[in-house]
Amino acid sequence: MTFPQIRMRRLRRTPKIRDLTREVVLTPNDLIYPMFIEEGISNPEPIHSMPGQFRFPINGVVEETENIASLGIPAVIIFGVPAKKDETGSSAYNYDGVVQQAVRSMKEQLRDKLVVMTDICLCQYTTHGHCGVVKNGEILNDPTLEILQKIAVSHAEAGADVVAPSGMIDGQVQAIRKALDHAGFTNIAIMAYSAKHASNFYGPFREAAYSAPSFGDRRSYQMDYANPNEALREVKLDIEEGADIVMVKPALAYLDLIYRIKMKYGLPTAAYNVSAEYSMIKATAEKGWIDEKAIVLEVLTAIKRAGADMILTYFAKEVAKWLLGNE
Ligand code: PBG
Repeated sequence: MTFPQIRMRRLRRTPKIRDLTREVVLTPNDLIYPMFIEEGISNPEPIHSMPGQFRFPINGVVEETENIASLGIPAVIIFGVPAKKDETGSSAYNYDGVVQQAVRSMKEQLRDKLVVMTDICLCQYTTHGHCGVVKNGEILNDPTLEILQKIAVSHAEAGADVVAPSGMIDGQVQAIRKALDHAGFTNIAIMAYSAKHASNFYGPFREAAYSAPSFGDRRSYQMDYANPNEALREVKLDIEEGADIVMVKPALAYLDLIYRIKMKYGLPTAAYNVSAEYSMIKATAEKGWIDEKAIVLEVLTAIKRAGADMILTYFAKEVAKWLLGNE
């Protein structure tokens, strides 16, 4: 009888040996919490399709972000839900717009205790719900860029540390970089939603932000999920245009892209664990069919293992509490 010379189980024997040899360790520092802020409400409103998530009122932002910072989460990304929409999304660059007000108040209070990122897109602000200016049913590219520039500058003026264009409009990173530099915001970073796919995993978000398109879909600007080479090209373009952080979205069904992009370009790489990825786990846990905490930790560790340096996730607060050992 021969015995195995190499026994992998030697380093799996006890919890401490496993702690010592663990390769990928998730920490609160990896997390970015996405926050919905709604104009014109006075109490947090639960989002039906995302149990545990809320639309926050502007006057509740400081309390909520202090809570987030105290959990050791380094960053939030803000999504505005405006009271008024129009054809061109003009409330997105209003000085007193929902994001601008919220960012000013949280920056005044928290200063550098939290990195404030803002999502830059038109879909929550337009009556048609598309991410660009629409003419005869077509989503126009270049006229949209000028609006995105105004939004970016207005977010930077309010105090945003990082702006994150998510509309998949060609040239958006370059246009925003130019506008920010021109306005003196050379130190404000851009996190580009570089490989953002036309995905079926955004449903609950669109309910949360009232941003579903009123006609058609987003496939003329967001990526086809069947095209990995195109995703690499999108990332390359965004890097050339001046992106500081690149993002893959969604995350779970796209781990191959996170891996390839991190390997190929080595830039800080973000992954967006999107709304339906959250809701699927919540719903299954509510049924009692899975152990929520264990599954969430496994999923987020896997996203990090694939190469993500940071993860946008609605689980951020719960995960930070688990990791801090408070729950
Ligand atoms: C807006 C935007 C979307 C998400 C983030 N920014 C939705 C969309 O493209 O319709 C989705 C995030 C999520 O599902 O959690 N462009």
